[in-house]
Amino acid sequence: MLYGWILTTWMDFVVSLLTRHRFPDPKSLAADLHLNGFKAIWMLDPGIKHEDGYFVYDSGSKIDVWIQKADGTPFIGEVWPGPCVFPDYTQSKVRSWWGSLVKDFIYNGVDGIWNDMNEPAVFKSVTKTMPESNIHRGDDEIGGCQNHSYYHNVYGMLMARSTYEGMKLADKDKRPFVLTRAGFIGSQRYAATWTGDNVSNWEHLHMSISMVLQLGLSGQPFSGPDIGGFDGNATPRLFGRWMGIGAMFPFCRGHTESDAIDHEPWSFGEEVLFCSSIVIIAFFWFKLE
Ligand SMILES: *[C@@H]1O[C@H](CO)[C@@H](O)[C@H](O)[C@H]1NC(C)=O
Ligand SMILES: *[C@@H]1O[C@H](CO)[C@@H](O)[C@H](O)[C@H]1NC(C)=O
Repeated sequence: MLYGWILTTWMDFVVSLLTRHRFPDPKSLAADLHLNGFKAIWMLDPGIKHEDGYFVYDSGSKIDVWIQKADGTPFIGEVWPGPCVFPDYTQSKVRSWWGSLVKDFIYNGVDGIWNDMNEPAVFKSVTKTMPESNIHRGDDEIGGCQNHSYYHNVYGMLMARSTYEGMKLADKDKRPFVLTRAGFIGSQRYAATWTGDNVSNWEHLHMSISMVLQLGLSGQPFSGPDIGGFDGNATPRLFGRWMGIGAMFPFCRGHTESDAIDHEPWSFGEEVLFCSSIVIIAFFWFKLE
């Protein structure tokens, strides 16, 4: 199946002028992609723009869903949309709130959801995440009210879980596709994962094999690296090789950072495109045999 990856945060999708300009009519965009045989995966990050009048911020504030600072006020940290608040997915109340927003989002023709930055990543901080002294008012059965150091490792998985449950609400007969960057033991119930922002070089191509095998041994079978590497430019030779190996990974996707050259099979000339096609055809051939 061909997937289109729509790199926008929910926030951008709704508010940012730039993205509104780029995606003025998401429903038609999705319909158009479907017509051309594509499925579209839309990105949702946990950082919600701290802005009165933005409906996600307003509805979350009304029922008090945000992670708090030690002093009991909502924690505000900077991510892609600017200053953001973060849903406290350790509470079932919050997961239901998020799930119902996801359900509505799906009705735009969204085929799958990609949860990124859910470590949670926070810019302009030494640790690249939120302070350990932040407060989660978690449900009793998972540990109750605790600081962030207690819940840090499960935050990403709980976000993926909540996203998965929202997709189920939208269509209970369809198996949701969620991709998550952060996970924990048990994440495989809710989401696929990839190996994060790896570098376009031979060493990372080599290591991607053991990373994916280790993830499999750890209970996460649905994983793969960004084919071609994320950070920096692949060469035609590196990309061609990575396609060959990448076709064998359960999660097979070319991707790269925005400042690098495109990492698609057709970005590197006819020879790489031809070899990539052969690899994919051979793969499906042997799979069907
Ligand atoms: C977080 O809570 C743990 C106990 O659960 C405690 O040991 C630790 O010092 C606390 N850390 C911070 C930064 O408040
Ligand atoms: C790939 O990126 C992830 C996330 O940044 C990192 O944890 C991992 O070590 C990287 N892999 C390699 C081979 O460096």
